Amino acid sequence: MAKRVQGKATSKTTAASKGKAADKGKAADKGKAADKGKAADKGKAADKGKAAGKSKVAGKSKVAGKSKSYRVAIVGATGVVGREMLRTLEERRFPVSEIRLLASERSVGEILEFGEEEIRVGLLDDKSLGGLDLALFSAGSDVSLKYAPLAAEKGCVVIDNTSAFRRDEDVPLVVPEVNAGDLAAYTLRGIIANPNCSTIQMVVALKPLHDAAGLKRVVVATYQSVSGAGQSGVKELEQQCRDLFNMRELSVGHFGRQIAFNCLPQIDVFEADGYSREEHKMMHETRKILHLPDLPLSATTVRVPVFYGHAEAVNVELQKPLTQAEARELLSQAPGILLMDDPEEGQYPTPIDAAGRDETLVGRVRVDPSVPAGLDLWVVADNVRKGAALNSVQIAECLVADFL
Ligand code: A2P
Repeated sequence: MAKRVQGKATSKTTAASKGKAADKGKAADKGKAADKGKAADKGKAADKGKAAGKSKVAGKSKVAGKSKSYRVAIVGATGVVGREMLRTLEERRFPVSEIRLLASERSVGEILEFGEEEIRVGLLDDKSLGGLDLALFSAGSDVSLKYAPLAAEKGCVVIDNTSAFRRDEDVPLVVPEVNAGDLAAYTLRGIIANPNCSTIQMVVALKPLHDAAGLKRVVVATYQSVSGAGQSGVKELEQQCRDLFNMRELSVGHFGRQIAFNCLPQIDVFEADGYSREEHKMMHETRKILHLPDLPLSATTVRVPVFYGHAEAVNVELQKPLTQAEARELLSQAPGILLMDDPEEGQYPTPIDAAGRDETLVGRVRVDPSVPAGLDLWVVADNVRKGAALNSVQIAECLVADFL
């Protein structure tokens, strides 16, 4: 089974995600050897990133070393995002006095490490959510709809990584680099929603452009990794790769079609207007986070055979023109962004560069000549990290710094 270590795939997953599998008989990643592929992972990416310019990671923990500490639960602790939440709390030294790991019956008794401690996974039920200050939920919308209000009733602030409450007007939807000010409304329901992974990385990149030149219209196409669908998505791509290499018949599960060496222009179900639910999430959430309820925006979301990291081609129309140099400067100074944009050196971000990193990586910044004021961008982030776990932990940090 593929797993993440320090925010990146283990060798098993790495091998597959480097596209070593045959794509019509060719190595999918232009014949890169395994070692080369490995070299492209976290460590190298970090060096590359440094070489590319300043890294201003928003939310370098504001609260590490804070004297007060908090009783924290992770609901869905055994999932792809839950495990990353646990790692992120540890890495950022979130002030924890008690950590409670909750999941379904399937995982009760499993042991997960938190620093030096070994924590036993407990069952999520009506009784398990008492005596908590904060709960990070990532166990699916149905679980959140049932248990998040219960936790909030008991005085626990919920940071919910599902889509259960994102559209609710009395639930703030927050990306700390973009709209931390909205957090204050958490008191209305005791619930804060963490946006969809694709939305998060896009709004981080849109925010400085909007502040400088005003957004007029956004068109985005995404290239989303299978980890966005949780463990089952990761396993499915891995299994399909194995089956293909061994000339076995493929089995299709979560994605409904073959995902290995394929691209699927469907994430979640289709709605009456022809857009998928994922596309609707991006469009609605972007407007809510940026406080632009009428922003014209169109999304096409695509699942690609990558294990970790989402990429997005974003076309932006602005109220007034920005030059390529101005846009690059704005993006390079913005919190949470690492500009990797040096076409002459062949430098641009890829999902492998983003795996395990906190920043949203931006490259391929160009002026779109087809409109009076437009830009094209390529935006990449680790969907499990900035797209989910890190953003949730950053929200928790803002909360305890300013409110709890
Ligand atoms: P479990 O591992 O016990 O099934 P992922 O998105 O990677 O598939 O992870 C989903 C997470 O949500 C897992 O930790 C999973 O626990 C948890 N989960 C799913 N359904 C429930 C449920 N009904 N009650 C509690 N936890 C659940």
